[in-house]
Amino acid sequence: MPNTLLMGAQWGDEGKGKIVDYLSRDADVVVRYQGGSNAGHTIEIGAERYVLHLVPSGILYPGKTCVIGNGLVVDPTALVKEIKDLIARDIAPAGRLHVSDRAQVVLPYHKALDAAREKRSAAGAKIGTTQRGIGPAYADKASRLGLRMGDLLDPGVADVLRTRTTEKNRLLADMGTDPVDADAVIREMREAAAYLCPYVTDTVPLLNAAWRQGRTILFEGAQGTMLDIDFGTYPFVTSSNPTSGGACVGTGLPPQAVQRVLGVVKAYTTRVGEGPFPTELNDPTGEHLRQRGREFGATTGRPRRCGWFDAVVARYSAMVNGIDRWAVTKLDVLDDFETIRVCVAYEADGRRFETVPASSAVLQRCKPVYRDFPGWKATTSGFTRLEDLPANARAYVKALCDLTGVPLGVLSVGPQRASTFVVDL
Ligand code: GDP
Ligand code: IMO
Ligand code: MG
Repeated sequence: MPNTLLMGAQWGDEGKGKIVDYLSRDADVVVRYQGGSNAGHTIEIGAERYVLHLVPSGILYPGKTCVIGNGLVVDPTALVKEIKDLIARDIAPAGRLHVSDRAQVVLPYHKALDAAREKRSAAGAKIGTTQRGIGPAYADKASRLGLRMGDLLDPGVADVLRTRTTEKNRLLADMGTDPVDADAVIREMREAAAYLCPYVTDTVPLLNAAWRQGRTILFEGAQGTMLDIDFGTYPFVTSSNPTSGGACVGTGLPPQAVQRVLGVVKAYTTRVGEGPFPTELNDPTGEHLRQRGREFGATTGRPRRCGWFDAVVARYSAMVNGIDRWAVTKLDVLDDFETIRVCVAYEADGRRFETVPASSAVLQRCKPVYRDFPGWKATTSGFTRLEDLPANARAYVKALCDLTGVPLGVLSVGPQRASTFVVDL
């Protein structure tokens, strides 16, 4: 397998975890390059269900090297819990999970600030964050006020933590929120650092050596293109770059190390949190998608907003990321629909849009232009050959590819590894 960059092409939760797990069999190294524990990547193996937040989805294959890259913001306590949970389920990360010493630390005050800001924001200004401290942690990184994982092992870290906590408590007080206890922060970080010490290392030479030795690298994106801080529906976005461009800055591997970009899309669309979503269905059809697709957040449990496939978003995503192949997931969720709609353009302010406008205010006004496709009213599960799928299901997937100009690489018709067709990779 060529070195593959896998990223979400919609608003997250496209099924990245499932596809990364599937492809991990043929990879040597799986590396996350951005985000934090806002991510929730689900993998189902037999009766077991795993939800990973920080640890790369390759961890479920024994012997695969997994790297938490420098581009992440890591909540040390959350990571300790995730590692302990894996160990309790007989998955051993020791010796093969590596955490970049350059990754930023999410501190308790980041989570408090995230929650306080959401609480204080007026109805239309709320982002609906996961409250995992992501925005404030990336803001501190850019403001050069952040701590990195390597710093946690430094003897002087207690003083820095005390100063920072005092500064943040002033902000929290302004926001009418309880302060964070500096001693508790220091204690929590000391404990987490002691546990994580064997995992924290300089992952930049590690990854580059693996690449130079010809080992296969799989880049695992979190969130999705429409949540990208530059290309998404700003300000209703996350604070990192889930797009393919983020992979180099988030790992220290150069662009030449990426040989192929695989975009993951659901056969319909979901979004969790606030912000524009042109194909959203606030009706029984949307509810049906939610129930059939079990569309409830893997991190926060919130019901996901559901709607039809948006080819404008997918086309834009293909352009921004340089997507070579689609991995289309959750086709099975559409099995019992009479008619399936696909948005091919938008209309707003007397104009037709073929691409996603920069302004969320404009996107909010956009009305989808739909093309209808006949459903197949039959199961897509249990097949081993793509040719055996119902003809209308194959026609629908082909239409998604034709409308976006990207060929099909992988098709998924269920959460399990066995419900996966590799079409052209
Ligand atoms: P991620 O954040 O992109 O990794 O996606 P999530 O794990 O948040 O959400 C995807 C959900 O869909 C998970 O519960 C998966 O187990 C499930 N899933 C993945 N692929 C398929 C599929 O092809 N069909 C069905 N029915 N479920 C799937
Ligand atoms: P995975 O990797 C879906 C959304 C939040 C909110 C916005 C900002 O599982 O696809 P944040 O906490 O990042 O500041 O929230 O981004 N969001 C996600 N939505 N999947 C995710 O991750 C998400 N991570 C963040 O709901 O709208
Ligand atoms: Mg998810």
